[in-house]
Amino acid sequence: MRVVVHIVGARPNFMKVAPIHRAIAERGHLRQLLVHTGQHYDVKMSDVFFTDLGMPDADIHLGVGSGSHAVQTARVMIELEKVFETERPDLVSVVGDVNSTLAAALVAAKMAIPVAHVEAGLRSFDRTMPEEINRIVTDRVSDWLLTPSPDADENLRREGTEPERIVRVGNVMIDSLLASKARADALPTLVDLGLTPRGYAVCTLHRPSNVDDPGRLGGLLDALAFVSTRVPVIFPAHPRTRRMIAEAGLTSKLDSSSNLRLVEPMGYLEFLALTSQAKLILTDSGGLQEESTALNVPCLTLRENTERPVTVSVGTNLVVGTDPDRIKHEAAKILEGRGKRGRVPELWDGHTSERIAELYERVLGAR
Ligand code: UD1
Repeated sequence: MRVVVHIVGARPNFMKVAPIHRAIAERGHLRQLLVHTGQHYDVKMSDVFFTDLGMPDADIHLGVGSGSHAVQTARVMIELEKVFETERPDLVSVVGDVNSTLAAALVAAKMAIPVAHVEAGLRSFDRTMPEEINRIVTDRVSDWLLTPSPDADENLRREGTEPERIVRVGNVMIDSLLASKARADALPTLVDLGLTPRGYAVCTLHRPSNVDDPGRLGGLLDALAFVSTRVPVIFPAHPRTRRMIAEAGLTSKLDSSSNLRLVEPMGYLEFLALTSQAKLILTDSGGLQEESTALNVPCLTLRENTERPVTVSVGTNLVVGTDPDRIKHEAAKILEGRGKRGRVPELWDGHTSERIAELYERVLGAR
């Protein structure tokens, strides 16, 4: 049987690879190997997602851990080259835009192993964002560019990608969301946190541009504190965000707003239970912009740009930047019921992984 290697490394990879792995396994025409680079390693940043998503444990763990961009990317490359030498895969499947994605695509391309990039073509046009570099380079060296939305196709065409290599498959993360929603709804998350449906906001922040600058982070916490005077704000904090709040001496801002509740990172199901019943989501995460749109929950993106414009043109997302007054103004509108309404983009239908499995079988001649 032809062999497909899937690479996972960081939190946003797991909910994308789980449905693809399952769809290929169910069809039974390809052998699969799951490689975990170890970019994320905490139980709450990694293990819990395997359990929640029903994904088998990785076949191979590289254990690269944290480091500067060069160190982390290089470590993944060094370890993966050995794996590819031994396993000789017929296709390497990478998802998203994290350092592990870029490293895997580079190694495979240099070894003349075909690469498929799931979530290709997204562009924020902001090269100060590490993910933007990862997206551009991964797309350049990939053979198959599997896109979630028409804007992505357009970006790739504009960059000169041959149209026959671009395949619009839809948004694979939404496969996980739809498959998990009923299980998430059955959890006692809201009751445990003392929340009522549509009676609270959810916030996540982890981008270096937001959390590494104490001034910016302080302003964002002020805006969140304002929202928390109206409704409780649940803020599951990435380890980096928690560390930066402490280092910047901003803990007092949280202490003085008892309704702004910093909690530990959550598992996939628990977090879905929380987001799906929220009145408002505030985030700098790309994935959460998409999930908000799929859940029809208003989302304010606390960044100057988005690589996911379809969540704005079609969905519930509004890019508001990081000015605290603008955030407060837009949040108040949503809390008063004057939030933006949206629709679910085309092909975000829960069947993207099947389209991907079919494509992989076809390009590998496995059917
Ligand atoms: C990475 C991705 C980002 C993605 C995010 C989701 C890149 C360039 N960035 O950013 O696109 O949105 O994951 O979370 O690949 N840490 C822990 N435990 C862990 C993992 C990380 O404590 O399990 C801490 C470490 O201090 C580490 C820091 O978080 O140095 C940053 O981790 P890293 O993987 O480098 O980047 P993220 O900010 O998580």
